[in-house]
Amino acid sequence: MELRLDKVFDSIRAAQRNADEPLCAYVYDLEGLRRHAVRVVDTLPLGCELFYAIKANSDLPILQTLAPLVRGFEVSSGGELMWVRAHFPDVPVIFSGPGKLDSELQAAVEQRVECLHIESIHELQRLGSICDRAGHAPAVLLRINLALDNLAETGLMMGGKPTPFGISVQQLQECLAWLRIHPKIRLRGFHFHLLSHQLDAQAHLRLLAAYLNQVRQWSEQYQLVIDQINVGGGIGVNYRQPDQQFDWTAFSNGLSALLDRNGLPDFVIRFELGRYITAACGYYAMQVIDIKQSYGKTFVIGRGGSHHFRTPYAQGHSHPFHVLPVDAWPYAFHRPVAANEKVSVVGQLCTPKDLLAFDAPVECVRCNDLLVFPYAGAYAWHISHHDFLRHPHPVQWYLPVEGQ
Ligand SMILES: Cc1ncc(COP(=O)(O)O)c(C=O)c1O
Repeated sequence: MELRLDKVFDSIRAAQRNADEPLCAYVYDLEGLRRHAVRVVDTLPLGCELFYAIKANSDLPILQTLAPLVRGFEVSSGGELMWVRAHFPDVPVIFSGPGKLDSELQAAVEQRVECLHIESIHELQRLGSICDRAGHAPAVLLRINLALDNLAETGLMMGGKPTPFGISVQQLQECLAWLRIHPKIRLRGFHFHLLSHQLDAQAHLRLLAAYLNQVRQWSEQYQLVIDQINVGGGIGVNYRQPDQQFDWTAFSNGLSALLDRNGLPDFVIRFELGRYITAACGYYAMQVIDIKQSYGKTFVIGRGGSHHFRTPYAQGHSHPFHVLPVDAWPYAFHRPVAANEKVSVVGQLCTPKDLLAFDAPVECVRCNDLLVFPYAGAYAWHISHHDFLRHPHPVQWYLPVEGQ
């Protein structure tokens, strides 16, 4: 995840020079995204496929950059499905997620999704009725909420304990029995997405090894004719210590070794990564409007806030940022400044929850300088409550793929 800071900063400085008001912007580096995705795809072992989980960022330029590189897109709603189909009629789509409506199952059947990930026996039964009427059926994976011994927890767990996600192991037999008497719906394998925010490559390899062992055991126990394991997404981004990111090289090498040693011949291993693919290509920039002291703490107030960039509050971290000095100062009076101290960076919302960074050491930040938050390309704009207080949306632009 190499960041191309110089190019991004230059474009933000240029936009600020042309702006009439303090700048507030999202910038996406499509060339950086392309290079990162190429590296991930190229280093996955044979027999592995990458789908992009578009919930992380479904902007069209992002999807257009990724479409030629990945095997397909993972969607989690009827809206995402129709968005992908409207722009990429031929890209393979897989459909996950809890609480699918009948209309969404119907759309999945009509749009011929490549694989549907089933979340409950009730969902399977509803799919059965829809497929009877349609006369054809998508292949399915059963998403299993696997409880594993020694599962190393991350900050965001979707399984391994009581959650609304997936089918508990105790209900597996019932699902398999149902599928046996409904042979039109083909079971291709199993889907697991137990966690997100995984930063430890070795722990992720152990998790994948556990999935392989479990699927091998079920295949033998239930005499299954299956050929696919979807190992979900979940590879994290280290927002707290940005110089210590997930070790992709160790992971891909370890995965090759694991598959050589303990793989399931003729199985496809699918990844559906979101955050790890797009987080690093996005930047949120805010220009400083005010700086003030309150009972011993310094607050830097930027244009924008968590209604644009909810990631730090949603994850409970202090987001790293860069200060880009802007030397122009339009007033005759003193320019507020914070120097060699720790600050909180907040936005324009009337709530103390509008907090993007805290206890953040700064050498020097002045009113009118720019703050640029990296790793804002996934679960950032797309998870934010844009219209709270009716502030305008930030400007957005995309640094193009080189050669285009
Ligand atoms: C089923 C499923 N697959 C994939 C993802 C993508 O996860 P991540 O962005 O952590 O890679 C999610 C995220 O919640 C998910 O729920």
